[in-house]
Amino acid sequence: MCGIVGFIGDKEKKQILIDGLRELEYRGYDSAGIAVMDCCNISVFKAVGKIVNLEHKMKDVEFNGFGVGIGHTRWATHGKPTELNAHPHLGEFSYVVHNGIIENYQELKTFLISKGRVFLSQTDTEVIVHLFEYNLSLVEDCFNAFEKTINELKGAFAILLMTKKESDKIFFAKQGSPLIVGKSNLNEIYFSSSDAPLIGHVDDVIYLEDGEYGFAKLSEISIFKNFIKIDVAPKKLPNNKQFAQKSGFRFFMEKEIYEQSQVIADTMIGRVKDSLVHFEELENIDISKFNSIKICACGTSYHSALVGSYLFERVSKIQTSVEIASEFRYKEPLLHENTLFIVISQSGETADTLEALKMAKHANMITVAICNVDNSSMVRVADFSILTRAGIEKGVASTKAFTTQVMVLWMMALHFAQIKKVVNSEFIEKEILAMRESSNIIKVKEFYHEKVKRLSKRYLHGHGFFFIGRDVFYPLALEGALKLKEISYLHAEGYPAGEMKHGPIALADSELFTVALMPKNILHDKIKSNVEELSARDATILSISPIEFNLSDDFIKTTDTEHFMLEFFEMSMILQLFAMEISIRLGNDVDMPRNLAKSVTVE
Ligand code: AGP
Repeated sequence: MCGIVGFIGDKEKKQILIDGLRELEYRGYDSAGIAVMDCCNISVFKAVGKIVNLEHKMKDVEFNGFGVGIGHTRWATHGKPTELNAHPHLGEFSYVVHNGIIENYQELKTFLISKGRVFLSQTDTEVIVHLFEYNLSLVEDCFNAFEKTINELKGAFAILLMTKKESDKIFFAKQGSPLIVGKSNLNEIYFSSSDAPLIGHVDDVIYLEDGEYGFAKLSEISIFKNFIKIDVAPKKLPNNKQFAQKSGFRFFMEKEIYEQSQVIADTMIGRVKDSLVHFEELENIDISKFNSIKICACGTSYHSALVGSYLFERVSKIQTSVEIASEFRYKEPLLHENTLFIVISQSGETADTLEALKMAKHANMITVAICNVDNSSMVRVADFSILTRAGIEKGVASTKAFTTQVMVLWMMALHFAQIKKVVNSEFIEKEILAMRESSNIIKVKEFYHEKVKRLSKRYLHGHGFFFIGRDVFYPLALEGALKLKEISYLHAEGYPAGEMKHGPIALADSELFTVALMPKNILHDKIKSNVEELSARDATILSISPIEFNLSDDFIKTTDTEHFMLEFFEMSMILQLFAMEISIRLGNDVDMPRNLAKSVTVE
């Protein structure tokens, strides 16, 4: 998804902007661009593909001395990923970068063309800069023209605009897309659409809220809302940049799979006590008020939501439903105040999930965000939030964010069960024991990784994969299939094992690969007979289980534990390695798979 950086100051600007864009690469993009202005000259560079292409184009230039610069990574929405469509976009004397979507761009464009403006790109963004320059011809003051422009835009945006008419400033606005601004000790100004590019440059930042806009110049940040200047207190910027490096692993995804043991432990700190689970974050929720829970999410977070629904019903005895956020938004859902509304999101910026959250708030529901990014939009909108503490996740294919989400849901289920007194102390003790073991079980053991590496070479062809499981292993099957398709581009489907005979089994033959999740502690015999049915049709079976299964073609023997959630975490790690090793053998870009973005901030 698109990323924004900006800088005002004396330092060499090319490197600052390029480095900033690099920190945003993990979000996914297909072109990048930079514009730098000193006094009244503007230089602009754009390139399709990776940032290294942009860097190559800029290899002979440097921008020392005072100036302002803006940069952008673009993930194509309106118009193809071409240089012409890459940001920054030019008017006659101004440049703009933008994240989000201008919904009324078509009517604005028609109007501006009628006023003689010439458009070069197919993007919605270009209207912003033309509208600004048109408004400037009416009001003759840059800030007023910018303010007027912002008020005429509909949709979601984070905008940085610079103009030769006031060459020491950057004008900015935020509505629905994240934007952060900070001032360094030397009074330079840094902008970014997320924390990472700012780390090391500034200590305190302002996370702009929807409806805020303004301008910045050396040593000054002026913020406005509804035509009135406002004071906004800066917040401390996190400084853990070590998460942003690969630490010797081949890919961020690999590093993140290995990190799971640590982050699962971090997720439990202060929450799993000796004899109970406690969430300070939820202290003010009266759970007895709710007779049901609804969870909304997308993609991998939707899969963890499904796991949560099994746990809330089984452990907390609370009826739970789960919806894909993009479906939920338009189905005219019936929302009741006695339903607790939960959203789950790694990024906290996913447009559909954010909108679902806003709908629930609007219906006066109590809302909780389970999220990995503090200060993200969802964390700020929800009544309560629980951070998953997975650290920055750079691989587009989510791994540690998923397992920490599941950990949080498991802890929440027990937390609610304790409060509702629907479980006895013996049960709680067993659960806590298992929770404490999770961090160990998910640790990548060398022999698993080796085994998966060797196995992977047999799964590079065929006409598709079925991942099958039952109970919480059904959402895990969905997740295993999603991981594989995201980074290997092979067709894979997740299915509840009991459903295979209702149709999909028709596909079974030796070229159909079935990955069967066969835990010991839940419905082992049931899934065994489902897999036997597939084996009888000659499907190629890879079974993952602590119990030997003699009909499998390949077998990964997992640890013999006494809790299904421990089996769940171990199998999660194995499926992630499986997808990654296949992707590596196919020569794909594991961390930045084609067509995907880390944070989907458009509908
Ligand atoms: C996960 O591997 C995906 N890339 C994707 O499905 C992701 O989980 C989805 O877009 C939701 O993102 P979120 O958790 O940041 O809301």
